[in-house]
Amino acid sequence: MLQLPTHAPWARLDGKAMHPKARYITASIAGLLLAGTTLSTQAVATPAPATPQPQAAPDINIDAVTAHLEEFQSIADANGGNRSAGTAGYAASADYVAHALTEAGYEVERQECGSCTSPDDNIIADWPGGDESTTIMLGAHLDGVASGAGINDNATGSAATLEVALALASEDPDMAKHVRFGWWADEESGLNGSADYVDNGGAEDVEAYLNFDMIGSTNAGYFVEGHDNEYGAPIAEYLESVSLPTEPMQECCSDDRSFADAGVETVFLSTGAHAIKSEEQAEKWGGEAGEAYDPCYHSECDSFPDNVDTEALNHTSDSIAYAVWALAVSA
Ligand code: PHE
Ligand code: ZN
Ligand code: ZN
Repeated sequence: MLQLPTHAPWARLDGKAMHPKARYITASIAGLLLAGTTLSTQAVATPAPATPQPQAAPDINIDAVTAHLEEFQSIADANGGNRSAGTAGYAASADYVAHALTEAGYEVERQECGSCTSPDDNIIADWPGGDESTTIMLGAHLDGVASGAGINDNATGSAATLEVALALASEDPDMAKHVRFGWWADEESGLNGSADYVDNGGAEDVEAYLNFDMIGSTNAGYFVEGHDNEYGAPIAEYLESVSLPTEPMQECCSDDRSFADAGVETVFLSTGAHAIKSEEQAEKWGGEAGEAYDPCYHSECDSFPDNVDTEALNHTSDSIAYAVWALAVSA
């Protein structure tokens, strides 16, 4: 007959301070005892340490991110060369994102933006789980300007955010906080999609909003607004760990604005738009001093694959996953 050693941590009756697997083993042993089966102690697995290990964030697959960029380029090609507000190219972009999220198990809402320049939808996707009163929200604008396909601005932010959402669904970790994602309509003509969402109470339970706009610039800088708050720190920390120390944002503005105005903590990551890289920055990050971070900003040449630095986008995508796991996944 099996003797339970009294010192065994998994022999606790209250079930506290036990690894979930250890609880399972205890229950199995109880079942075996009831069945009158004999069992040698050697057959019982050594219980795992009771201290929970932090969940590691996944490495986001850059090929999956660029596959989304390719899709956004095809959408532009099939719809007059752009994906701007009020066009079929915007609607097809919204369909693409909403479909992928629904397939992955998200609760997806298409919310028509009443105050936008055209009746486009914001796409809002909630990952079921976590306490909704502490929602961490991440977002990117899904529209582009009329002059091109809008690949760095902002298929990169849209694609990376989408792929992180899909990674969260496939990893399915225990959530400490609720996570919501948003893809905004009509940013380019005045940050309208996100403003409409916030004006209609969308930010009420949002503890922090993290924004991603232009995150694969070909002459990349690494700018984080809010790197000094607890929500931006993981992004800055991740990029620092791959030798890309961040600087505060120099350029303005994006969809974090309405959230900040509503009193939400905000974070904004970008690899830069049309401002010029300095000598010092080129030494720090590589690339060309005296040139724009994105020489194709709001131009026809903002296309895939030419106007994306996939190495930069790989790092920024991984930093988003790192932040989601650090901020919202159970330790
Ligand atoms: N949000 C602006 C746009 O979409 C540009 C911008 C990008 C500003 C990155 C600051 C940082 O055109
Ligand atoms: Zn943008
Ligand atoms: Zn823009």
